[in-house]
Amino acid sequence: MSDPELQQLATLLRWYEEVGVDASVVDEAGVWTRPKAAPPPAPAPASRPALPAADATALDAAALASEADTLEALRAVIDRFDGCALKVTATNLVFADGNPQARLMLVGEAPGAEEDRKGLPFVGRAGQLLDRMLAAIGLDRNTVYITNILNWRPPGNRTPNPSEITMCLPFVHRHIALVRPDVLVLLGGTSAKALLATNDGIMKLRGRWYDLAVPGLAAPLPTIATFHPAYLLRTPLAKRQSWKDLIAIAKRLEAPGDRRATPA
Ligand code: URA
Repeated sequence: MSDPELQQLATLLRWYEEVGVDASVVDEAGVWTRPKAAPPPAPAPASRPALPAADATALDAAALASEADTLEALRAVIDRFDGCALKVTATNLVFADGNPQARLMLVGEAPGAEEDRKGLPFVGRAGQLLDRMLAAIGLDRNTVYITNILNWRPPGNRTPNPSEITMCLPFVHRHIALVRPDVLVLLGGTSAKALLATNDGIMKLRGRWYDLAVPGLAAPLPTIATFHPAYLLRTPLAKRQSWKDLIAIAKRLEAPGDRRATPA
């Protein structure tokens, strides 16, 4: 390889690093820069008023999500959705894990590297801690249902940006409405802020009960925010507060549930 080629390669690798490409998923590099066939002509503009791109995409996502009457249909709809650029860099769609009949549903932030590889949420180190936390109150993946705000891994595990959250939120709302849990747990600040529609941080939000109105559910859903297990791995002292939240969740589950009277 000549010097200029080596330099080009080094630049490309530096760029990969900057955008968070930290794993190789195929053995051979594709020629991503090869010109593609010209795209088909754009359809005539619809008469929708001009909206910020993320809001317009969220409207599309909401329309698609509302068509899904089952979890399988929702998964298929999300899989077909091209509005979120994360789909391009992700290896797998990470939809959910656990029991859709469970009374407890947990919503995290977004898949990490391990989740992206396996197509399942919370299977890395944070997920192992989550499993231990759930076990401490007698629960496991047969008795809970787990998903994330985003279904694709942000490159380099960066925090999801507001546009990504806005455009994917209709899917999360539909997901919750289809599962109809008795209790919802928001894991970490990103999930709590997105679903509680607030800018307050997790320190303020955690440990309190909220009545969350979810489109498609007849009654507000008892919801609590708590620390993300990845934060607990970095900040073991916070486990004390987290334990309090777990006790509160276990207590809440002692009350008989109504699985949200009206179906979504
Ligand atoms: N962190 C999350 O928020 N979700 C996962 O699935 C894994 C790590």
